[in-house]
Amino acid sequence: MSDGEGAIRARLVELGASLFARGFSVGSAGNISVRLDDGYLITPTNSSLGRLDPARLARLDADFRHLAGDKPSKEVFMHRAFYRARPDAQAVVHLHSTMATAIACLADADPENPIPPLTPYFVMRIGARLPLIPYFRPGDPAMEPAIHAAALTARAVLLANHGPVVSAASLSDAVHAAEELEEAAKLALILRGTNTRALTPAQIADLLGTFG
Ligand code: 13P
Repeated sequence: MSDGEGAIRARLVELGASLFARGFSVGSAGNISVRLDDGYLITPTNSSLGRLDPARLARLDADFRHLAGDKPSKEVFMHRAFYRARPDAQAVVHLHSTMATAIACLADADPENPIPPLTPYFVMRIGARLPLIPYFRPGDPAMEPAIHAAALTARAVLLANHGPVVSAASLSDAVHAAEELEEAAKLALILRGTNTRALTPAQIADLLGTFG
């Protein structure tokens, strides 16, 4: 293992523990992956993000085959869909965070924008769109083409009745984006049914031009 990979393993464990400590994941929910020069690291299936062991993270080759470490997350295909659709993606974070998942359970959620772009940081971290993917059971590989198609034009998706998946250009950025998405979902729920002022298309275009 290279020195660089050791540092990435340590960072993934640290960020997983931080997400868990603050309630962004509970039990063994959620999974995190990182792209390496010659493959990927992903959290083991049924592991708690709060208690990861850097030496036991699942190591995958460039074709997502398991090389070493514990058995990978059953949602490897979810991460693969993002990496294949988005060459810029260096990390993917999937959570069952409460507020985003609540919105993913709303019968009248807008499939194109279930969480409206109310704040600049949502647009800067997630982008202008957050497609809602129809329901699939966790671990169902049939989800991959649906996520891949959406990820071609979106950095993150919301899985109906399940939770968010976000990608970003670094592990830290992916964790920041997952946190920002959860806060945006909380705002959307607090403001549900009120007369909100969404960002205008011009304000969104300005943010994407500056930070996109
Ligand atoms: P894994 O434990 O296999 O990663 O699955 C957890 C999860 O979040 C399922 O949606």
